[in-house]
Amino acid sequence: MNTTLNTNGEVKPNLHVKLGNVEFKNPVLVASGTFGYGAEAKQFCDIEGLGGVVTKSVSWKPRMGNSPRRIVETASGMLNSIGLANVGVDTFVKEKLPYLAKFDTKIIANIAASSMEEYRDVLEKIEANAVPNLAGYEINISCPNVKDGGLSFGTNVERTEELTTLLRASTDRLLIIKLTPNVTSVAPFAQACERAGADAISLINTLVGMSIDIYTHEPRLNTVTGGLSGPAIKPIALAQVYQARKACSLPIIGIGGIVSAEDAIEFFIAGATMVQVGTANFVYPDAGVRVAAGLEKYLQQQKIAEVTELVNTLRVKAELKAAGW
Ligand SMILES: Cc1cc2nc3c(=O)[nH]c(=O)nc-3n(C[C@H](O)[C@H](O)[C@H](O)COP(=O)(O)O)c2cc1C
Repeated sequence: MNTTLNTNGEVKPNLHVKLGNVEFKNPVLVASGTFGYGAEAKQFCDIEGLGGVVTKSVSWKPRMGNSPRRIVETASGMLNSIGLANVGVDTFVKEKLPYLAKFDTKIIANIAASSMEEYRDVLEKIEANAVPNLAGYEINISCPNVKDGGLSFGTNVERTEELTTLLRASTDRLLIIKLTPNVTSVAPFAQACERAGADAISLINTLVGMSIDIYTHEPRLNTVTGGLSGPAIKPIALAQVYQARKACSLPIIGIGGIVSAEDAIEFFIAGATMVQVGTANFVYPDAGVRVAAGLEKYLQQQKIAEVTELVNTLRVKAELKAAGW
């Protein structure tokens, strides 16, 4: 146990968590697509206060994404249809990865693609240009805003398993599969990732949603539907993390509507080992650092020495558990 004392002589809780053989200084990451490649937020956020940065999804070629309008505010959240706009893997390895390598925090490279081969080629290109703090990969099989790829993998158990097996053979770094909530049950997907040798799963990506202008009768997003994120989706995300926790033994990274330390703590209790902060970054670019600081305070107040002690501590009555709840 790494127990240390703070200036008042109180126990300083240990926020370190391990995923596979990688140690993170705290369990709070920033979510893909909400923090750019780090440089965009640097001015407003102490990047080294984060457990790590999950970079914007990168594909083989640069993508412009969908045309505007591709962001709409909703009650307690937002809809986006960015469509995986990104710089492409060449620029990613030449510019973005070396920039983030300067910081004392972990990098998780998020990959999106429209074929199994593209996922593998992008991963192998990054692998060949890896920097020391590259912890691993998050595989986006859950983007609802593109026609090709994304959800066509994430809503098919066999393809999820096949893709995970393929990518597992290309890296010894962390392989994290990012799951979608846009399925009847997340359980078979979590189990497929486990069978195929993933190190962890992360969930949830955005939920398909829409918004309509009642005066023009037009959809507000150019693509008609988009992905809903933010506090509005937190209860759904929590339920999905809990279902995945019951279905497999892989570590889980909980995502969805986390704004505060209290939000993150609910995810740990439901069974997540780490969390990601997404939409909240658009309001407070240092939201992840705030969550980590609040978490430390909570542990201190509750006299809990290690953040890992919170994980999977939901108290469900025995009779309900026996009935499958
Ligand atoms: C504007 C925007 C862009 C996003 N881009 C990506 C992306 O490129 N890749 C990805 O895996 N997830 C992407 N996401 C999904 C987030 O990483 C996260 O899974 C989701 O927003 C739920 O978390 P939140 O409620 O904290 O935002 C994006 C979300 C938003 C709001």
